[in-house]
Amino acid sequence: IAHFQPKHLAGKHVLLTAGPTFEAIDPVRGITNLSSGRMGFAIARAARAAGAAVTLVCGPVALPTPAGITRINVVSALEMHAKVMECLHAQGADVFIGVAAVADYRPATPAEHKIKKEDGAPPPIELVRNPDILAEVAALPNPPLCVGFAAESQKLAEYAERKRRSKKIPLIVGNLIQEGFGGDNNAVTLFDETGATALPPGSKAELAHTLIERIAKLLEKPEKP
Ligand code: C5P
Repeated sequence: IAHFQPKHLAGKHVLLTAGPTFEAIDPVRGITNLSSGRMGFAIARAARAAGAAVTLVCGPVALPTPAGITRINVVSALEMHAKVMECLHAQGADVFIGVAAVADYRPATPAEHKIKKEDGAPPPIELVRNPDILAEVAALPNPPLCVGFAAESQKLAEYAERKRRSKKIPLIVGNLIQEGFGGDNNAVTLFDETGATALPPGSKAELAHTLIERIAKLLEKPEKP
């Protein structure tokens, strides 16, 4: 299909994050989540098919790298944050899409050695906040067009719109976890300043193309005064 795609994003650089992050507790254990990376990879493919140069910063996922895409593998949220900032500094980006399910918290000090089972009280794990990559990118002086994802298990519209406003981004893609996480299909709703638009449910590849078309339209819009 790619050959017949209009090249809406020719000459543009799209930077995106995908997959989960893994936050070490000790050398063999950590905190992670069930994000498969499939939605992010589908969007990377769709952006490439639309003619963009694509950089994909991804957490631990077992997915092949789509053709023509620059892939940067990371493990933790801190590494993901560092690579995204490094890439923006080095190359800049026209669009940033945060598709990764970034861990909100990480263990404050990962143990140097494997934690041993002891009698008595279980060991406590002290958590600290991870940086919010998307919010930080959106707050840059000359930010790329920022797009976020909100995976929720309930009250999708309320939480997604709240996230869009608090992160100060023009577009957020909301989905119910029950409908998307890990699978090949997804049902998503777009939230922007005009309100909510549910996209027809489809494969992650189809949804990715629709989303990329929407993003290309937003890029064309003249800047607001
Ligand atoms: O705040 P929450 O994690 O629910 O927001 C989800 C959106 O923010 C996603 O687009 C995700 O990629 C991004 N995010 C991020 N860095 C974080 C947490 C979330 O970029 N630390």
